[in-house]
Amino acid sequence: MKKNILIVSAHPEPTSLTRQLVDVTVETLGAAGHEILQSELYGMKWKAVFDADDFPVRTNPDRLSFIMESGHAYVTGNQTPDVVAEQAKLLAADAVILQFPLWWYGVPAILKGWIERVYAFGFAYGYQNGTNEFRFGDGILKGKRALVNVQAGGPVADYGPRGINAPIEQLLFPLTHGALFYPGMDVLPTHAVYSAGHVSTAEEVEAIKAGWRARLAGLFTDAPIPFRAQNGGDFPDRHTMADDVAPGQTGIVAHVAEKLRFVDAVAGDAAAIASVVNGAYRANGAVEGWTNERGLLDGPRIGEAGVRALIARERILLLRRLTDGAISGCINIAIDDDGAWHTSMLAVAPDEQTAGIGKLIKQEVERQAAAAGAPRMRMEVIRQREALIAWHRRRGYELTGETLAFPYDDPSVGHPLRPDLELVVMEKQLNSTVG
Ligand SMILES: Cc1cc2nc3c(=O)[nH]c(=O)nc-3n(C[C@H](O)[C@H](O)[C@H](O)COP(=O)(O)O)c2cc1C
Repeated sequence: MKKNILIVSAHPEPTSLTRQLVDVTVETLGAAGHEILQSELYGMKWKAVFDADDFPVRTNPDRLSFIMESGHAYVTGNQTPDVVAEQAKLLAADAVILQFPLWWYGVPAILKGWIERVYAFGFAYGYQNGTNEFRFGDGILKGKRALVNVQAGGPVADYGPRGINAPIEQLLFPLTHGALFYPGMDVLPTHAVYSAGHVSTAEEVEAIKAGWRARLAGLFTDAPIPFRAQNGGDFPDRHTMADDVAPGQTGIVAHVAEKLRFVDAVAGDAAAIASVVNGAYRANGAVEGWTNERGLLDGPRIGEAGVRALIARERILLLRRLTDGAISGCINIAIDDDGAWHTSMLAVAPDEQTAGIGKLIKQEVERQAAAAGAPRMRMEVIRQREALIAWHRRRGYELTGETLAFPYDDPSVGHPLRPDLELVVMEKQLNSTVG
């Protein structure tokens, strides 16, 4: 169905990655038959500063009270025309997409100024009666979707769960929770591109564009970040969470009602997946998980390009942590000629091992396979990994007796450390729910 999409973008350079991705948004959603509204803030020479010029007709000429003048200008029709136009675009939109580079941990000033000026009192806050009755899940923009696309200069590691910058989903909480969820929008998980200043080859740019297109495909179907709504029962006095809600949790983490979610990886996840997989299979530090191949192989288990190829050719299922966007674990899925779901590269982030995540991922894949009518699950394990074979046997997998030669000539799986590696095939029969 045709929808109206508002793209608000903030990058002064037309050849920048951000602006290239704005072009992708316009092309992709336009080709899907949607109506595109654009606010390209630098091109519009948007006035970024919220000041006395925003109120040509004042109720109090002596002292500038922003909230009072904003509410007055809004109800009396005395707002500046640029603000009125942006409010009309927001009201017309079914989805709002914000695209910008990360500048000092947040949005560029011009975009901050767009929010400050367009979000008038009576419109985005103080809605209906001014008592804060309608906010955080309720408000004038309720029912609309919001999606943030940010380009960050720092590498993905800087934004990991223990990264030096902190996770992007937490840094952008003032935008996602404060500016988008506050007036009622459903906010999708942020789409971040890391190392954005070091993208050099055409292949890298194409992979980034493919990752963004995949996110755009889910604009009206992906599940939003499960922020707790003010009026959903979690905040009985509209201010503080009830004692029995998220007990023991504080800060941003407590605001996200559901902590983990299964999602299909898109190309933009490749770097983060490679980091989780290599951490799990090659952990050399204190944490030695059950997916570790120490003594058998070393060198990276897979590179970012290898992950991207798998995402394009097959499918990688992720268990995403919604509190910070980190990947708790992943598994690669291919479908064999006999319909069996063939899994590989099961990995759990090293700092989350022993919490039952591997089991959770296996259960979810088997549930999906059964629902899709697959007759059985199949996988290969290195024969020498006896503990891992035992782990799978406890979960209903049997050795088929079939063995495969280890791919000694394929450098992409790592460097073998012994000459006798061999793969054994394991299968589990499924009671498919589809006949
Ligand atoms: C003023 C300014 C502030 C920046 N702050 C950050 C920052 O806080 N974190 C970060 O990872 N990168 C930061 N960067 C790097 C930009 O995010 C990076 O250059 C940009 O995303 C590259 O993409 P582009 O081609 O779309 O400009 C900053 C860049 C500028 C110019």
